[in-house]
Amino acid sequence: MVGIELEIKAIANRLRQPFNRLFSTSLRASNEEAKLADFGYRKVPVEQKEKLVHGVFSSVASNYDIMNDVMSMGIHRLWKCHMINKLDCGMRPNSGKPLQFLDVAGGTGDVAFGLLDHANEKYGDNESKMIVADINPDMLKEGERRCLKTRYANSPRIKFMVQNGEKLESIPDNSIDVYTIAFGIRNFTNIQAGLDAAYRVMKPGGIFACLEFSQVHDPVLSYLYDLYSFSCLPMMGQLIANDRDSYEYLVESIRKFPNQEKFASMIRKAGFYVPGKGYEDLTFGVAAIHLGVKL
Ligand SMILES: C[S@@+](CC[C@H](N)C(=O)[O-])C[C@H]1O[C@@H](n2cnc3c(N)ncnc32)[C@H](O)[C@@H]1O
Repeated sequence: MVGIELEIKAIANRLRQPFNRLFSTSLRASNEEAKLADFGYRKVPVEQKEKLVHGVFSSVASNYDIMNDVMSMGIHRLWKCHMINKLDCGMRPNSGKPLQFLDVAGGTGDVAFGLLDHANEKYGDNESKMIVADINPDMLKEGERRCLKTRYANSPRIKFMVQNGEKLESIPDNSIDVYTIAFGIRNFTNIQAGLDAAYRVMKPGGIFACLEFSQVHDPVLSYLYDLYSFSCLPMMGQLIANDRDSYEYLVESIRKFPNQEKFASMIRKAGFYVPGKGYEDLTFGVAAIHLGVKL
């Protein structure tokens, strides 16, 4: 009997071998893949991506605002304004309590100043506070410089902080009423970690809003958009900012970002309640606003 059992075990082991080999090969491949991140169309070691993204934004910081206007023909201002108006519902005009805003990857401060202005002009709110968090001190320096020309100059209501949006280490749990991020999250090495951090820092009832480039669905428009993005944008980067590579990366990073549905599912995965389909396309899907609520 024992002899037969041993024989059966030996045969079973022999049968399992090719599967084991296949399984361990695919496991090794996926482990190797897991250590790489997209930097535009290039695959780079995960630990290098943050440094490369840092280089891009340090390089574009001083020309960032003008390039944004030129490349989007000013449309980015309309998109940001639309997101701020959409967030109106999160400003709870009747609650009477000042809010804590957080604008992650806030760069030169467009969304941050816009939100504070909106709260002030629409609700006479001159108490709510804003944290502008960005991983890049050069971008924040531009934001602080711009802030000096606003009514928030030297005000304790606005704070600029160097923070990695994937961790938000200095931001306490459950402390934020409204979290915004515009054109920043696609640069994260680990987008899901960024969404998890957003969920952690938000108060229950808080609103998450992300404005990001997205996917144009119509094939003809998508073709024309690609033509514009891949030929005109790097050329403009070269002519205006003498920096073709950074603008090439910006275009590639847009194409690598998950589409509207996938990104909405990542927001759900972080724990947010996502109302309806979870997003609104802007300009045929060139950009999209995603919303989430921490219940
Ligand atoms: C395209 S700019 C957007 C700036 C601004 N939100 C706007 O809409 O004009 C992207 C910003 O994301 C920042 N960023 C990239 N990776 C980040 C990270 N892991 N954490 C925080 N900020 C990050 C960059 O430094 C840069 O300022």
